[in-house]
Amino acid sequence: MAKLLAPDMIFPIIAYGDSVLRKVGEEITKDYPNLTQLIADMFDTMERSKGVGLAAPQINKAIRLFIIDSQKMYDEGDKETGLREVFINPTIIEETGKIWAYEEGCLSIPGIREDVYRHEKVKLEYYDQNFKKHTKEFSGMTARVIQHEYDHIEGKLFVDHLKPLRRSLLKGKLEKISKGIVSVDYKMKFPK
Ligand code: CO
Repeated sequence: MAKLLAPDMIFPIIAYGDSVLRKVGEEITKDYPNLTQLIADMFDTMERSKGVGLAAPQINKAIRLFIIDSQKMYDEGDKETGLREVFINPTIIEETGKIWAYEEGCLSIPGIREDVYRHEKVKLEYYDQNFKKHTKEFSGMTARVIQHEYDHIEGKLFVDHLKPLRRSLLKGKLEKISKGIVSVDYKMKFPK
């Protein structure tokens, strides 16, 4: 018999400036409490905020878990279709291909989008929601989302990739976000 899930739970998204976003996530085991429910709630939270990825630190859990749904980043007729997937305890094995820029944003840093340079391909080892192990290579927008979310479980944010001058120009805006002085249409938790 299927296990009944509790009603939808939407987590507030942790905003820039909170120390949980700077922690290196801990690995989890199959027995992590209510893991199935947690993953379902993370998908609901990501969809409500129209994100294409969400990492556990963004909902205040410093663990090595993130989800992605890159399907909406692709158009009909594109060679690739995107991917909806859960990544548990992932490790990047290698990043290859050309380095390309894309204007990234982040649910924890609303209102800021900046060009970030990353490799075209990423190969990683990870477990899915059933704790089945995979070793796979991803490319294009899917790789981009994975690299962004992977950074989160390493305590890194996309603004860390910017040149110091660009970052210092954003300092005021980032400070405002951490104080909750920002217009956003999903629930957030601000550190200050
Ligand atoms: Co992000």
